[in-house]
Parts: sequence; structure tokens; C-alpha cells
Amino acid sequence: FALASPIAPDFSRPCSDAILPGNHVPCCPPESTKIIDFELPEVRKIRHRPAAHLVDCDYLIKFELAMERMRALPKDDPRSFFQQARVHCAYCNEAYFQKEPPRDEPDQKLKVHFSWLFFPFHRMYLYFYEKILGELIGEPDFAMPFWNWDSPCGMTMPGIYLDPASPLYDPNRNVEHQHVLVDLSDGKKSKTKSTERGTTYELSRTGQIKNNLNVMYNEMVSGSKKATWFYGQKYRAGCNSKDDGQCKPEPGGGLVENGSHIAIHKFVGAKKPPYNEDMGNFYSAGRDPLFYAHHGNVDRMWSIRKALPGWRQEFHYRVDRDWYNSEFYFYDEKRNLVRAKVWQFLDTERLGYAYQNVDIPWLRSRP
Ligand code: C2O
Repeated sequence: FALASPIAPDFSRPCSDAILPGNHVPCCPPESTKIIDFELPEVRKIRHRPAAHLVDCDYLIKFELAMERMRALPKDDPRSFFQQARVHCAYCNEAYFQKEPPRDEPDQKLKVHFSWLFFPFHRMYLYFYEKILGELIGEPDFAMPFWNWDSPCGMTMPGIYLDPASPLYDPNRNVEHQHVLVDLSDGKKSKTKSTERGTTYELSRTGQIKNNLNVMYNEMVSGSKKATWFYGQKYRAGCNSKDDGQCKPEPGGGLVENGSHIAIHKFVGAKKPPYNEDMGNFYSAGRDPLFYAHHGNVDRMWSIRKALPGWRQEFHYRVDRDWYNSEFYFYDEKRNLVRAKVWQFLDTERLGYAYQNVDIPWLRSRP
């Protein structure tokens, strides 16, 4: 059987406005003629990304300064918050053509959600974002915070993001949810119960926490053994979409992507039809600083899975070579356009970072 090609944006064709139902949104990054290949950094010391609800005041002041400076950069600087937010829009809402599209669909656009690209793409995105923050405060080893929503004390929006005067704030959120426990099952559990009793009620705080921990157990322990269950379905290039289900974008997400990850997006986004900006829609999610902390925790799940006891399948380096070689483009902290490949992003310590070692209560929360 012929090996399919890796997924990559086609940089020889122009980037275009992102496509939304009934709308087109500009999302293309500033142009650059020079592309360099990403190289793994020389790691002298591992930086630890802290849980956002546990950071101290010194850290917060540093982080706010970095965010303030990122927001203050000119809009055409690829490192500005404005441009960083667009990265998500471009890759998620079809701004790029796919290199080696399906043979029967030469104009196929690239999408990074609901497939095996989900975890690696977002890891890369955060990596460059974090390096830019560090550059802006002259601290190359600055580590961004993660939103520890899988642990009881982290199950509300982290307080540091809630001050309207802070550069971490975003007015486009669901204000009713500001101090409410997240529901990682996105209402499914409470709905089941309400029909049982014939009345609508909300879970108690302890009930909600238990429910969230059970969701995590299902996604991360019982439901993460097979590679596709965790990462998502295979999405390949250069095949024929008529006879190959793996040859189309969005073949299906993994349990974390479809479950807790989407639940948090919906929980934070404003209730504003039709798009529920910012977090409630892919095109606008990157405009909320909380997005990056949310994805920090999603990325942390990938690290945790790697360290779990028991067998966990990984994609085969030969059969699934196209996954390892899939590539995306980002601007680095020096404004270079960099081409990064999935295989370079499989081990966070080789990238120079790890996550603060906090308790993982869902490991003991088998439903
Ligand atoms: Cu690219 Cu949480 O989405």
C-alpha cells in the first residue's frame, strides 16, 4: 500500500480570508519570503508551566507585563496578540490550501481540528506563543500558566483572568460563568438526571466535581488506550477522498478534544449567537488570553498520558509516518517564519518545558 503524504499548508498558494458560515474573516499572517526550519532548542534547564490558580504575585506581575507588551505591539508584527490570535483562525477556519490535496479535490483547505493533528498543532502554537512572551520581558525561560480545570480547585475560571483592568481579561466571555464550576460533560450529565426526576436541577458542587473527575477518568484512563481514541482519527494527504475516509479534514476528534476541551470552550464563550465569541468559536478563540491557558491544560493531558501506567498505543513511526512529518508554520520570537514538524514536538522536555507537578485526582475517580 502506498504511503500517503503528510498534511501541510500549501505556502505556494495564497492564504485567503477564513471561511465561516455566512461570513469571511481576515486571518492571514504577515507575509515573509524567508522560511527557516525549526530546530530543537538546546535545553539547559526545564521551565515549568504553573497552574494558573496557584501562581504568586511576582509571577502574575511578570505575566501581565508580557501580555501587556504583546497587546501593545503593532498589528502587523507577527508576534502581536492581534496576529497570534489570528493563527488559530487561519489554521482552523480554512485560510490555507492543503498541500497535496485529495486527488479528487484539488482545492481542499486545511483544518487542524477533529483529527490526529489536534494535539501536535496546538502544542506548537503554544510553544511559539510562550517564547514570544518570554522575549518581550527578556526572560527566554518564561513559562506560561495552564488552567488546571481537571482538579477541584482549578474548576472555575482562574482569578487572574477576571480583572477587567488586566491584560489577561477578555470582555467577550459568558459573565454568568465567571465564578461557576465548569461542567466538563457540557450539560450531558445533569440533563440525564433531570429527566430521571422529571425536573431540572443543577448538580451540587460536590456532585459537579465528581462528575468532572469521572469525565477525566473516562477520557484519560479507560478511553485513551488506543492512539486514535486519544489523538483523533487519521487524516492524510494525497489520497482520494472518494475511496479513503482518512483523506478528508475532520475525520473525528479524540475523547479529550470532543469532550472536556470543547466543553470549556463553550463554557467560557459569550452566549452571543451565532458565533459565541470569543472562546465559543474557533475563529475567535485565540482572542481570549484564557484560550492559551486552556490549551496549556489540554497539552498537559498529552504529557500525562505519556506517563500513565499500562499500555498506551502510539502511532506507528512507519505506517503513520505522515503524522510525524505533518508540518505547520509559525512566527518565532525573533519574527522568523518557521516550519515545524510534528515529530519535533512529541516530547516537551526536549522543547524545554514541563508542567508543574500537581495532584491528579481523577486517576482515583473511576466512575
Ligand atoms: Cu484549536 Cu481549543 O481549539
